Amino acid sequence: MKKNAVVIVEMGLRDGLQNEKHVLDADTRVEFARRLITAGSKRLELGAFVSPKWVPQMAGTSEVVSKALALQKAGDLPKKMEFSVLVPNERGMMDAIESGVKEVAIFAACSESFSLKNINCSIDESFERFKPVMALAKKHKIKVRGYLSTCFGCPFEGKVPEARVVKLAERMNKLGVYEISIGDTIGVANVGQVESLFKKLKKVVPVKKLAAHFHDTRGQALANILEAYKVGVRVFDASLGGLGGCPYAPGAAGNVATEDVVYMFQGMGIKTGLDLQKLIDIYPWMTEKIQHTLPSKVGKVGILKPLGAVTPS
Ligand code: HMG
Ligand code: MG
Repeated sequence: MKKNAVVIVEMGLRDGLQNEKHVLDADTRVEFARRLITAGSKRLELGAFVSPKWVPQMAGTSEVVSKALALQKAGDLPKKMEFSVLVPNERGMMDAIESGVKEVAIFAACSESFSLKNINCSIDESFERFKPVMALAKKHKIKVRGYLSTCFGCPFEGKVPEARVVKLAERMNKLGVYEISIGDTIGVANVGQVESLFKKLKKVVPVKKLAAHFHDTRGQALANILEAYKVGVRVFDASLGGLGGCPYAPGAAGNVATEDVVYMFQGMGIKTGLDLQKLIDIYPWMTEKIQHTLPSKVGKVGILKPLGAVTPS
């Protein structure tokens, strides 16, 4: 296995906070971003321009983006980093453009029932909605990432055929997204499925353009990430503390915890660009803000001090 560095895309502010009962104000969300950036995060999804009636937790995203961009302009945040926001349609894209953000993410499901529950339209209709979004992105020189949800299983339909996921990945690639994040929205995937699906996906979308997005509902996320890494994937979505989940995917737990992923890769001598101790230091601050503990294992107990660094000797 060739040991290349990985990139971790931080989901805490969007996929994480979108499922929290306690809604955080814009200043707290910006402070969360600042702490993550201090720990080395270079790619962060700052929020979502979705309907506040559907996801009230994401209201205030424009304030979060404008404050983060202002800090960057003032030199208080590094210039070389990427902020993104989730957009479901043209209306969301217009809001994103107005906010000044230079990257957005579109999202489609691989099962009709989840598409309907999550964004109130069929899969085909969602791809129709992406056309004006892509046109605006081109006009305003905005990068677009794509997500595919329910790639391994749907909370309403159960098994999702691999062939459908592969076809939708090809379709999304043709739209012109720069990367496609393959989502295990409800955390049902296992290592066998991950190996099989990513090997098929690689044949239609260059592996460099694939990312993996695992929710850790059944404790399989780290094993699945390692398997995806073996197949050649180098970009992984994760969320500090294992925050979150999707409000329209019943029973879905949060994303795999950023600090757990960093602990694993660091132990293998694979660079993540993130400072593990600084990530762990965010954990108690965040649990205080959201008023409950979070599932992250490493965040909870930290590094075993007598062992020192978690790199191979
Ligand atoms: P709809 O009700 O069908 O929309 O919702 P509509 O077009 O009929 O419009 C109804 C109202 O919403 C109108 O306002 C629109 O202006 C407004 P009104 O006239 O009633 O005052 N509206 C909007 N407002 C703000 N921002 C917008 C927007 N669009 C319309 N962008 C819609 C359709 C897509 C808006 C809705 O279903 C929605 O917002 N869904 C978002 C659900 C969501 O955010 N889910 C979580 C994120 S996806 C996820 O977590 C999975 C992922 O992590 C990957 C994985 O894990 O697999 C990405
Ligand atoms: Mg997700």
